[in-house]
Amino acid sequence: MRKITDPAQFGRVAVVMGGSSAEREVSLDSGRNVLAALKARGVDAHGIDGIPALLDALRAGHFARVFNILHGQHGGGEDGVLQGALESLHVPYTGSGVLGSALSMDKTRSKRVWQSLGLPTPKFVALPRGADVHAAAKEIGFPLIVKPACEGSSVGVTRVFEEKDLDAAVELAQKYPGDLLMETLIVGDELTVGILGRQVLPSIHIVPKGAFYDYNAKYIAEDTRYICPGLEGEAEASLRALSLEAFDALGCFGWGRVDVMRDREGRNWLLEVNTAPGMTSHSLVPKAAAVAGIDYQELCWRVLETSFREEQ
Ligand SMILES: Nc1ncnc2c1ncn2[C@@H]1O[C@H](COP(=O)(O)OP(=O)(O)O)[C@@H](O)[C@H]1O
Ligand SMILES: [Mg+2]
Repeated sequence: MRKITDPAQFGRVAVVMGGSSAEREVSLDSGRNVLAALKARGVDAHGIDGIPALLDALRAGHFARVFNILHGQHGGGEDGVLQGALESLHVPYTGSGVLGSALSMDKTRSKRVWQSLGLPTPKFVALPRGADVHAAAKEIGFPLIVKPACEGSSVGVTRVFEEKDLDAAVELAQKYPGDLLMETLIVGDELTVGILGRQVLPSIHIVPKGAFYDYNAKYIAEDTRYICPGLEGEAEASLRALSLEAFDALGCFGWGRVDVMRDREGRNWLLEVNTAPGMTSHSLVPKAAAVAGIDYQELCWRVLETSFREEQ
C-alpha cells in the first residue's frame, strides 16, 4: 500500500456521502466526520451529496480522487455501480472495486463463494420470491434467521425459534427489495473485524443489551457494549486470519469490515462483508483502529491512501 506524506499528493478530493439509499442519514454522519478529519490533516477535501452530483463534478474536472462513504445498494454507492462509473472515468477511489462491492452486497452469493473455498458460513437456503419457506425451514431447522439477501443495518432481520413465527419473519423481510436468505441461527458471540489496507484491526466483541445487534442497538441504544480486542491469543489471531481470507475471497480491496458469529464451541461463522462501513462516532472500524493506535484522522488518511490501488 502506497504511503503518502504530503496531503498535496492526494490532489482535490471529493468525499461523496448521503445519496438516496435507506442509509442516507448514517452516510451523511460518516461523511461529515471524514471530511472534517481530512481537512484537519491538510487534505483539499470537499463534500458532495450523492452520485449524480459527483459525476457532474468529476466530468467537469473538479476532483482528482474520491473518498467513498456512501452506504447501500441500488446505486447507493456500496454495490459496484458507482465503482464502475468511476473506473470508466479513470478516477481513483477508496475501497473495493466493482466485483468486491457487488459480491459483498449479496449475502447469498458471498456465502456461496466462501462455501466453495471451505470457509465457514452458517448453513443457508436462498429464498427467491414465492419459495416454499416452510420446506426451507425444515432443511435448516430451528432456530434460524431470516433476512433480505441484500440489505444492511439489520433491517428486516428476524430470529425465528418456532415454525409459528416463520410467516411473520418472511413477511417482514419481503418488505425489502430482492431475494431472501434463511440461515442457521448461531447462538454465541457477535464479532466484527475491520480491515485497513493489508492490516487486520483488533476484533470487536459486540454485546448488545437486547437479543441481538438490531437496528436499535446499532444506531440508537447507548447501552451496547464493545470489547476490543474481542478475543485473546490464538483465538484472536485465527479470527483475524479468517476475516482477511473472507475479505480477499470476495475480491475486496482497501478497507472494510467482516461480520462473524462465534458459537459456544468457539467456532467462527462468516456472515457478511461491508465494503463501506460506518465512520460515525459510534462506528466500529474507528473503535478498532483506536485500539490499534490509529486515531480517527489517521484512519481517514490511510483509507484515502488505498485509492492509490495500482501501487498496492
Ligand atoms: N446466522 C446468524 N446467527 C445469529 N445471528 C445472526 C445471524 N445472521 C445475522 N445475525 C444477527 O443479525 C445482524 C444483522 O445481520 P447481518 O447478516 O450482519 O446483516 P446486516 O448487518 O447487513 O443487516 C447481525 O449483526 C447479527 O446480530
Ligand atoms: Mg452486518
